[in-house]
Amino acid sequence: MIKIIEKITMNILLLGSGGREHALAWKIAQSPKVDNVFIAPGNTGTMHTGTNVPIRVTDFSAIKDFVLANNIHMVVVGPEDPLVNGIYDFFKNDSSLQDIPVIGPSKQGARMEGSKDFAKAFMGRHQIPTARYKSFTADTVEEGYRFLESLQAPYVLKADGPALGKGVLIINTLEEAKKELHGMLNGMFGDAGKTVVIEEFLDGIECSVFVVTDGNDYKLLPVAKDYKRIGESNTGLNTGGMGAVSPVPFADDAFMQKVEEHIIRPTIEGLKAENIDYKGFLFLGLINVKGEPMVIEYNCRMGDPETEVVIPRIQSDIVELLEGIAQGNLKNRLLEIDERTVAAVVLASGGYPETYEKGKEIKGLEDQLLPATVVFHAGTKESEGKVVTDGGRVLVVSSYGNNMKDALTQSYKTAGTIHFEKMYFRTDIGFDL
Ligand code: AMP
Ligand code: GLY
Repeated sequence: MIKIIEKITMNILLLGSGGREHALAWKIAQSPKVDNVFIAPGNTGTMHTGTNVPIRVTDFSAIKDFVLANNIHMVVVGPEDPLVNGIYDFFKNDSSLQDIPVIGPSKQGARMEGSKDFAKAFMGRHQIPTARYKSFTADTVEEGYRFLESLQAPYVLKADGPALGKGVLIINTLEEAKKELHGMLNGMFGDAGKTVVIEEFLDGIECSVFVVTDGNDYKLLPVAKDYKRIGESNTGLNTGGMGAVSPVPFADDAFMQKVEEHIIRPTIEGLKAENIDYKGFLFLGLINVKGEPMVIEYNCRMGDPETEVVIPRIQSDIVELLEGIAQGNLKNRLLEIDERTVAAVVLASGGYPETYEKGKEIKGLEDQLLPATVVFHAGTKESEGKVVTDGGRVLVVSSYGNNMKDALTQSYKTAGTIHFEKMYFRTDIGFDL
């Protein structure tokens, strides 16, 4: 018998530039199936795991040119923007690109994140547990006031469209809620607020559930919890996320069984039934209401900083999963999870999420790191041979531990050896678990 042994290696283009993309690039680069990882546009961290390419994530024609010129076999999409703008469909509809898989949903699938009204209606059609809601436009503002009157405080108002993570208001008084509804419907969030979802407030603790799907089957990635507020004990302004841990103790087998049965399966089945092309990552923002999981939101991508704790817990080759997504045979692909805990602490620029300065030299990065720690770059750049701050969230320190306390101790030890002017981080990640 003749055995043909061929070594097939791939070139992968990853879109994005945050801590999430550094973690993805770091993991993809470890795959024996991969030759080259390109990151567009990337950051100082991804520069050391692959090759940065100066292309914006929404510049589809530049992406096309790069993909064709560099023999790219697969495009992995980090942030939601290109997905909401239809990069999947752009590839599908172009004869020179249609055989190159894009890991991420179609434009229609990305509406699960891009339109809160669409997501809520989808959940309604598929009996997926979520807060009771109604949607309103400028024409129905009076009905909106009546609906608010029928609810108890606090009031939850959500701009339908993408609003840079600022489109959700949680308001304590009816009077204020009516005022904000009026403001949103009159352009406070631009087009994003033309439709406003008003929903019942859910009281509970949140977690982030991630699945990969090829449109038929799915696999569950490790569950994480992120810490969105800037201040200790979850106080102060919302941020992109100040830390994360995985696993999440309350997301035990019994809870996750409910999540799969009541939420994940009906979601995947619902997408299929509605002929929505969805091959990629799906992020379910859940809340545990007295032991019952309910959906707060869907996102069509991985979370940040959750990715920085989820990805390090994947022991097997992530490219196995990406190929499974692309080829529609995810069911046969290996996924092995590290039993250990990973905890991430975000090192931010003082002032964030309001105004902050950039360009501060980061020291301590070159020091010997603890073996159980990885430092992912989020907002950094290289300037005159030095690594300097270039964003609100600058670095994400992720560490393994035998338990959460252990993992956090490692991350805080490392955080203590890194310095830049006005560096800020929360010292209480995991406090509520
Ligand atoms: P979202 O942008 O949909 O993730 O909403 C931002 C945050 O608002 C969520 O992470 C929750 O903490 C909170 N939130 C959204 N909807 C509700 C709700 N119905 N009840 C309670 N909190 C909510
Ligand atoms: N950490 C929440 C998000 O990525 O949306």
